[in-house]
Amino acid sequence: MKPLLEVRGLRKSYAGVHAVDDVSFAVVPGSITGLIGPNGSGKSTAIDCIAGFQKSDAGRVFLDGAEITGRAAHEVARAGLMRTFQTVRIYERLSLRDNLAIAAQQFDDAGWRDELLRTARYRRAVAAAEARARELIELVGLTRYAEAEAGILSYGQKKLVALAAALMPRPRIVVLDEPVAGVNPTRIRDVEAVLRQLNAAGETFLIVEHNVEFITNLCHHVIVLDQGRKLAEGTAAEIHADPRVLEAYLGIAPEADDAQRRGAA
Ligand SMILES: Nc1ncnc2c1ncn2[C@@H]1O[C@H](COP(=O)(O)OP(=O)(O)O)[C@@H](O)[C@H]1O
Ligand SMILES: [Mg+2]
Repeated sequence: MKPLLEVRGLRKSYAGVHAVDDVSFAVVPGSITGLIGPNGSGKSTAIDCIAGFQKSDAGRVFLDGAEITGRAAHEVARAGLMRTFQTVRIYERLSLRDNLAIAAQQFDDAGWRDELLRTARYRRAVAAAEARARELIELVGLTRYAEAEAGILSYGQKKLVALAAALMPRPRIVVLDEPVAGVNPTRIRDVEAVLRQLNAAGETFLIVEHNVEFITNLCHHVIVLDQGRKLAEGTAAEIHADPRVLEAYLGIAPEADDAQRRGAA
C-alpha cells in the first residue's frame, strides 16, 4: 500500500551524539504504527524532525507523496500531520471546549477580517468547530467536563484533551509522543479504547511509546529504535520474538526474560 508517511534516511546529531542515525520507515494509511525503543534511543528527536520542531541534518520526509522535509511545524500541521507532546501542552485555565476551539482556529480559513466583521465565513467556521469539538469531547468520554477548566482533570484525561485538540483540524495522521507515560495504569485502558475507536473510524496514528504492552496491544506494525538506529520492524509478534529487541530493549538475554516471566507467573 502507498505509505501515508514516509521517512527516508533521517539523521540528527547533537554535538557528536547521533540521536537519529539513518532511520527509514513508512506508515500506511489506516494503521496504528508504533515507534518504540529504550530511553534515549531517538524516538522524540525523530518525530521532532518529522513534524518540523527540529531541523534534521539529512533525510527526506513525505506526507501522502508530497515532500515536507525541512518545513516548519505549522506548515507540516497544515499539510495534515499533527502531533502531541510527551508532556501535556493544553490551556489549564480554559474549558475543554475552548481548548478545542483554539486548536481549530489556527487552521480554519477565516482570517482576522472575517472575525472582526463577523462574516458568514467566520460564523460557519465557528459553528463547524463547535460541532467537531462536541463530537471529539464525547469520543474521548469527557462530555461532562466540556465546560470545566482543563486544569481540574487527571493527567490521563489531559492527555485525552491534547489528543482531541490534535484531531480538531482533521489531520491525515496524528503522531503521539508517549500517550500513556505518567498515566494511571487503570486509565491506560481508556486511552487504548479511544485510540482503537478512532482508528476504526479511519484515523492513522504513529505512536511513540516506552510502554511495550500498550504498543503490543494496539499496533499493526512496530518499528524499534536503539541508539538512534532502526534495530527491527514488523508485527508486534515478530518484534517480541526477536532476540535483538529483547536484548536492546530490556537489556537482558531471551533466556533471562523467559525465566523472569516464569518467575512472575
Ligand atoms: N536538545 C538536545 N541536546 C542534546 N542532546 C539531545 C537533545 N535532545 C536529545 N538529545 C540526545 O539525543 C538522544 C536521543 O534522545 P531522544 O530523542 O529524546 O530519545 P527518546 O525520545 O527515545 O527517549 C539522547 O542521547 C539524548 O540525550
Ligand atoms: Mg522521548
